[in-house]
Amino acid sequence: MNRHDRSAGLAAGAAALVSSYAGVGAADHLTIVRSDLTADGHVAVDAIRTAARRLGVRVTDVVQAGTDPRRVLADSDAVLIAADNESPWRGPIVSALADGVRCRVLRMFGTSTALVANGLRMDQTTMARLNANVLETMRSSSVINVTSSSGTDLTIRPLANGTWASSCGHFDGRRPAVLPPGEVNTYTPHVDGVLVADGAVNTSFGFPGSAVLDERPIHVTIANGVVVDAACSDRIVSMVLRDFFEVPNADRVGEVGFGTNIGLRAFIPKLCHLNERWPGIHLGLGSPTQLVDWSCPLHLDLIPADVQIVADGQPVFSNGRYHGLRDCDPEESRIDLHVDAV
Ligand SMILES: [Fe+2]
Repeated sequence: MNRHDRSAGLAAGAAALVSSYAGVGAADHLTIVRSDLTADGHVAVDAIRTAARRLGVRVTDVVQAGTDPRRVLADSDAVLIAADNESPWRGPIVSALADGVRCRVLRMFGTSTALVANGLRMDQTTMARLNANVLETMRSSSVINVTSSSGTDLTIRPLANGTWASSCGHFDGRRPAVLPPGEVNTYTPHVDGVLVADGAVNTSFGFPGSAVLDERPIHVTIANGVVVDAACSDRIVSMVLRDFFEVPNADRVGEVGFGTNIGLRAFIPKLCHLNERWPGIHLGLGSPTQLVDWSCPLHLDLIPADVQIVADGQPVFSNGRYHGLRDCDPEESRIDLHVDAV
């Protein structure tokens, strides 16, 4: 991709964020709050500010320190909190929204030019519809089989009364929408087989070097939702895994996630939610994303690159695309991930 394509992609993603996800247009007021950004994150935010102004949006660009969150929310039609890892103003935002403040709030984690250029190719409506259909298909299945040419062979049985979450960048009026969008997930202890994570990792605790795993896949064997064997040819990654599994409950599968961001073209080296939005499946080891009767302080997402998914004998995902899904109204399955969900 040349420099012109990259900047065109960044401008397109920035415009989609403003008009589709933040839902603001001419004469509206968007406040962008810069949190713990990298230099590249600031470039991404500059592109969003430019896109908004081109659309006639009034933009206020603030740094978090010393700013009163309640006043910002009361003065804005939408607020974008652009962050790397932090989640500032959690309490004040939730209480202001509960008090009836009418302002759309979005949190973007791992803010980068790659995220804005690649993670927002699907508009929010398309994303919401796909998530609803994936969620309904998986939730209503008794058994889900996941395979890959690199050796993944998993059997997953969703809980009949299990809870599910959908991350589609939808703002529900109560909690901030989360960007980048694109996954549905659940918890079930009924996960068995082998996962070969040859795509990427995401973690809640950092990771040495690139998050991309293509040259050094992680193999895990799982029985009844517990990792019984884990291996990686890379010594450093093996050390990370060894330490990780020392933590109580880190060997339990806390999340079965289905990535739905079909605009993604490649994994990115930066440790970021974007990689777990990759179309297909990922398993989160450790801290569950649903309310269950156990907990773990750490979360490690393992993401395979290219899988096939069969739900109750019907192929529903291959060649990076979902197909043959049950049709479901997005209004019925709009449950955004909690703000700090990984
Ligand atoms: Fe996930």
